[in-house]
Amino acid sequence: MSKTATLEIDGKKHEFPLITGTENEVAIDIKTLRAATGGVTTIDPGYKNTGSCESAITFLNGEEGILRYRGYAIEDLAEKADFLEVAYLLIFGDLPTTEQLEKFHNDIKEESHVDEDVKKIIEAFPKSAHPMGVLSSLTSALTAFNPSSVNVDSEEDMYKAIVKILGKFPVLVAWTMRKSQGQPLNYGSKNLGYVENILKMMFEKPNEDYKQNDILLNALDKLLILHADHEQNCSTSTVRMVGSSHASLFASLSSGISALWGPLHGGANQAVLEMLEAIKEDGGDTKKFMAKAKDKEDPFRLMGFGHRVYKNFDPRAKIIKVAADEVLGDLGVEDPVLDIAKGLASEALSDEYFVKRKLYPNVDFYSGIIYRAMGIPVEMFTVMFALGRLPGWIAQWKEMRLRKEPIGRPRQVYIGETHREFTPLEKR
Ligand code: CMC
Repeated sequence: MSKTATLEIDGKKHEFPLITGTENEVAIDIKTLRAATGGVTTIDPGYKNTGSCESAITFLNGEEGILRYRGYAIEDLAEKADFLEVAYLLIFGDLPTTEQLEKFHNDIKEESHVDEDVKKIIEAFPKSAHPMGVLSSLTSALTAFNPSSVNVDSEEDMYKAIVKILGKFPVLVAWTMRKSQGQPLNYGSKNLGYVENILKMMFEKPNEDYKQNDILLNALDKLLILHADHEQNCSTSTVRMVGSSHASLFASLSSGISALWGPLHGGANQAVLEMLEAIKEDGGDTKKFMAKAKDKEDPFRLMGFGHRVYKNFDPRAKIIKVAADEVLGDLGVEDPVLDIAKGLASEALSDEYFVKRKLYPNVDFYSGIIYRAMGIPVEMFTVMFALGRLPGWIAQWKEMRLRKEPIGRPRQVYIGETHREFTPLEKR
């Protein structure tokens, strides 16, 4: 393949280098486009064709349904690693040795508390507040309790900031849920594993000893691994964009949480369950909802179907479907909503509209079913996604800062009024 791309504008040819990634993805490097062409820009709403960065963290091939973190297949990681190992892998680039993992975990444990004054902030929220709004605010509030900025050129400073957020974030997640349920705000235990401790903080009752359920622990660990990174999606791009102004790590993560909240992104897991419940309430007629999803006059979309980049299958959905069957089987849960989900999936997979547009169940189609079986309230589903995505956001923020990327500042094509004479108020 030629090493350059030629662009012809008004008969004048301009050459741009092609760059090739390690998985042979080819991109036209247009860094010099405006300078070379006298100000011509590109337009690509939704960035469907635009790479915002070079990244060595996650490889994704939507056509072939491949997802790898730092070169390791998601299938292997979900089966053989635990969430903390995956977090280390994403953030530092390699799987940890036993000693590295132990130190990482111990350092995180040292940070697994937040200032007691954070409780006052939580108190101020109405019980009905959406947990994603609360989580985003609390994450941003951490900046106030930890005001010193991170010197990104210091490996030690960077490491401290990373273990700090990995320690404190689960406390915020658990407290967000406990607040919505009227439960006392608690702390975890230093004797437990990272994910085990999260479950304890979430589910511990004030008047009884907490007993670990291994089925739930394994299911949550797997779900968090599957959600841990997904290259330049909406929330990750937001974290990188906000961080590119050198805003703090906590502030950047808080923006990522807000971006994740939307129903077209992480909020889809809540939307899926609400949709399945609505179908059940309506009598369970999946065909009626399939027809609504296909009707262009109707804004209804089949939540949990389709993906911006996976146009074959979502490898995470495959793993999670098996996990959902296992968890429900092991827990002995009979859930009519699961039958509706299975019915919808099999209808959509053989429906011309969905097949033609390559719309397959995505990760969020099944994750909500597992969360529900675990006893996690539906409004917390996207918070659980954020918990899983945290290492990915951190890794991407770190990479962006270490690569000294410039501040994110896209261009536009202006389509408003041209220059107008100002009319004073009394003459309008
Ligand atoms: N139900 C019905 N039709 C759909 C759906 C759906 N869920 N998704 C896409 N389409 C149609 C869409 O109407 C369009 O049809 P046409 O070509 O006739 O205009 C075509 O498929 C292409 O859709 P698009 O909106 O251009 O695709 P996109 O890449 O911009 O959007 C998406 C991707 C995920 C936002 C979209 O598929 C969607 O809204 N899905 C439902 C929400 C959802 O499950 N989101 C979770 C994504 S996975 C978690 C994550 O990584 O964030």
